[in-house]
Amino acid sequence: MRTFYATTPIYYVNDLPHIGHIYSTVVTDAATRYHRLIGEKTRFLTGTDEHGQNIEKAAAGQNLTPIALADRVVARYHDLWKKFEIANDDFIRTTEGRHRVGVEALIAMIEKAGDLYTAKHEGWYCASCEAFYTEKELDEEKRCPVHGTPCAWESEENVFFRLSKYAAPLLEHYEKHPEFIRPETRRSEVLSFVRGGLTDLSISRSKVQWGIPFPGRPGQVVYVWFDALSNYVTALGFGSGDERLYREFWEDPAGRRVHLIGKDILRFHAVYWPAFLLSAGLPLPTTVWAHGWWLRDEKKMSKSTGNVVRPDGLVAEFGPDALRYFLLREMTFGQDAHFSDEAFLTRFNADLANDLGNTVSRVAALLRQSFGGTPPLACDSNEILSALAAAQSEWRAAMEDFAFNRALEAVWRFLAQINGYVVAQEPWKVRKEEGRSARLSRILYAAAEGVRLCAVMLFPFMPGTSRKIFGTLGLPESDPRLEDLGWGRLPTGAPVPESGPLFPRADAGAYFGTKEKTMSQETPGAPASAPPPPETAQAVSPSDNRIGLDEFQKVRLVTGRVLEADRVPRSNKLVRLQVDIGAEKRQVVAGIGKQYTPESIVGKNVVIVANLKPATLMGVQSDGMVLAATGGEAGEPALLEVPALVPPGSKVK
Ligand code: MSP
Repeated sequence: MRTFYATTPIYYVNDLPHIGHIYSTVVTDAATRYHRLIGEKTRFLTGTDEHGQNIEKAAAGQNLTPIALADRVVARYHDLWKKFEIANDDFIRTTEGRHRVGVEALIAMIEKAGDLYTAKHEGWYCASCEAFYTEKELDEEKRCPVHGTPCAWESEENVFFRLSKYAAPLLEHYEKHPEFIRPETRRSEVLSFVRGGLTDLSISRSKVQWGIPFPGRPGQVVYVWFDALSNYVTALGFGSGDERLYREFWEDPAGRRVHLIGKDILRFHAVYWPAFLLSAGLPLPTTVWAHGWWLRDEKKMSKSTGNVVRPDGLVAEFGPDALRYFLLREMTFGQDAHFSDEAFLTRFNADLANDLGNTVSRVAALLRQSFGGTPPLACDSNEILSALAAAQSEWRAAMEDFAFNRALEAVWRFLAQINGYVVAQEPWKVRKEEGRSARLSRILYAAAEGVRLCAVMLFPFMPGTSRKIFGTLGLPESDPRLEDLGWGRLPTGAPVPESGPLFPRADAGAYFGTKEKTMSQETPGAPASAPPPPETAQAVSPSDNRIGLDEFQKVRLVTGRVLEADRVPRSNKLVRLQVDIGAEKRQVVAGIGKQYTPESIVGKNVVIVANLKPATLMGVQSDGMVLAATGGEAGEPALLEVPALVPPGSKVK
């Protein structure tokens, strides 16, 4: 059986978890749940990075010992992962004995390879990154490229690792294994960095106390990044005397070892870590997958910027699965995405309450009303069954490629097909005309089995919701297995219980009214993203159709550049556009084919409504709307164009 080992970064304990940390963990959970579901032998590791100067300082600032601080934050992580149903097999803490022995064993192997030496270390140091930067990487004021804070000139005697020796072997590995760094843009970045040559790396510190003593070098502790990266093998028992897990998950030649990380820590994972492993003669990970950042107000969400979103309020109000869904659906894996309450609410109401929730309730109600449970006759040939094949193959391909948003889109398309089928078959009419006929039974069986299969495909994303859907269809609320992906597992003649809505629709007005309570923003007094109260109260009568700013702000308008355009078959009006909207590419169908030829639209900078529910126009999916003015002579739409210097993805307000 093929093995799949997935890891998250291990999180620093000088900060409480925020949406960024949750994202890395939720994607790793979704990936592992998928591989477990399709029958692979999986292992999922997460944990905490507890050593180093920053933790030392943060603990001192709170009058705590570093370990007491770590214990507190770790307890928070455990609670949170439980709440989010994160199914990790292990949780490693770098302060554990099993980790220390593994780090010592790794250092011994690297020492044996002749790759360590002691020398004076000088350079520009960012304390937040706990890393040195070269002149080239800093601006004139020597500010850190990640944090924007000034670096300090540091000088000390340290143990060095001969990283320079590994530039050529690393380049060879990148060439031979294109899947080693994903996505492609990140791979190119690393390639050009390594092609520029590598300098040896200091892997000990003498001025830091809080760390693993460097074996054989009194007065030095192991550099926190060497310490942290080793967790991926120490948690498997490497160097502990019991290396069974290590052999099974790290040395299996056919197995996959995937590090899911944020793009901020790519160099550590794609350059330093494989160089340490090459030196020690150990296998390398199969893939380092770097995802983008969650941004708020155009900046990376981070403690130092003070713009983080904590999950507590959202989870209390909407449940963990709504946030899991939003994170996995809204971000194109690998690119940056914006976190906004408005986008969250829109997805919640449109995708979860409406598309998913209503379809499930509607089908369950039809079953109850028609047969008091699941239908007596199964059905093994119908249009849902053929739609399923396409949906599952898209879902699988996307999941194998960590394209979570694409996998979800496939499920949503399938959901729309089930809905379309129910509407077209009109089972309520069939019931009226034919009673509990065989035809009615088959129609409802197909719809319910379709819903069950949606729930199986949703399991990696929203495990709790998926189990609830099984319950709504009268099935046991247990985790699905490989065979549950097949058609016909829904039993016939089983009772279907009464159930409430899966996702009760959220009232946006009420939500924004209580927002201070529900969403905790890091900096009190920071400009709240809740819109000001509507201005309509004083000046405008209720009969006037004006809307408040709050309503307008629900519409996400962004600029986009048209990359491709072609006509929708059999339509003289509809044109299909591929539009670059900065963080992603969107397919949008526009009714402008009479005034514009497809060629004349390519390259135009337009305005897109980015949070419109997807619609299908003449069989073509449209994921957004392009703005046009219709006041011309013939009343024909004229595209609203934006000056070329405005980059795609800019907010229009
Ligand atoms: N301790 C190191 C990792 C060592 S791994 C051997 C570290 N920890 S961290 O707590 O600062 O952040 C870890 C990860 O959290 C990031 O790499 C990223 O995966 C995730 N995120 C933190 N902020 C983020 C966003 N704003 N957006 C998305 N993910 C981000 O670095």
